[in-house]
Amino acid sequence: MPSADNELKSRNLRDILEQARLFLAGSESAHLDAELLLMAVLGKNRAFLRTWPDYPVERAQRDAYCELLERRKAGEPVAYLLGQWEFWSLPLQVNTHTLVPRPETELLVEQALARLPDGSLRVADLGTGSGAIALALASERPSWNIWASDLSEKALEVARTNARQLKLPNVTFCQGNWCEALPEQSFNMIVSNPPYIAPDDPYLEGDGLPFEPISALVAGNNGLKDIISIVQQASLKLIDGGWLLIEHGAEQGASVRDIYSSAKFQCVETKRDFAGNERLSLGKLKHAK
Ligand SMILES: C[S@@+](CC[C@H](N)C(=O)[O-])C[C@H]1O[C@@H](n2cnc3c(N)ncnc32)[C@H](O)[C@@H]1O
Repeated sequence: MPSADNELKSRNLRDILEQARLFLAGSESAHLDAELLLMAVLGKNRAFLRTWPDYPVERAQRDAYCELLERRKAGEPVAYLLGQWEFWSLPLQVNTHTLVPRPETELLVEQALARLPDGSLRVADLGTGSGAIALALASERPSWNIWASDLSEKALEVARTNARQLKLPNVTFCQGNWCEALPEQSFNMIVSNPPYIAPDDPYLEGDGLPFEPISALVAGNNGLKDIISIVQQASLKLIDGGWLLIEHGAEQGASVRDIYSSAKFQCVETKRDFAGNERLSLGKLKHAK
């Protein structure tokens, strides 16, 4: 098998980048990955790469780049190699204890923001991982009091660091099982991107996934186990008229709508992501009279 060390023979930036793209060929994101990793190694932005194609890459930089390319070729997500990933235009630290935030999850943020105005409201993000959803909401709604829970203390360490670096003080992080981690009060809205992939789904072998925490990806009962727990717990934790929004798999819309409807939720509907896939379901709690 060709090694990056053998393939990257040139010294100038343009040729090295082209050789790196060829080395990663086969991955859908080869071009972008080669560019992002070179930017990180050189400490330069994309404009620099475009403007200075003849820039001489030093030996040590080339070696560091080769090492990253090898790890990427072995499947490691670029986000973990960089230690940082962007979500909702916020730079977030990530590591192997946190899921890499996905662009389709921005739909959950959009839908949450569309439902409630800024003000002194209580909102929870269950299974916060890197803090992506909670911090995106906090950046848009500075008066919301946001609680963000996760079972993983290691993930919460990353989320707390992100909140500090982004200077978003209106998020409180708490460790525990879904709503059990939250304080006594009722909430105006609860959002979650829980694990929802069935344990035997071949998708789990896809690009990068074997490097992500299995506890962030997989749920029993065909991927629905955690969604069922969250809907049940949220129905006891939301105010009358409070919203619940949950991200799920493209094939799970009908099942999730049923779960909502059998738990006193009204106005239940599913929203599609930019690829046209059913991606999240939401509903409004109606307390029994
Ligand atoms: C799909 S990841 C979502 C991470 C982040 N919200 C995002 O969208 O990038 C699911 C998260 O749920 C957490 N989790 C799994 N089981 C949990 C439980 N029982 N209670 C709370 N969090 C849990 C995982 O640690 C993981 O961080």
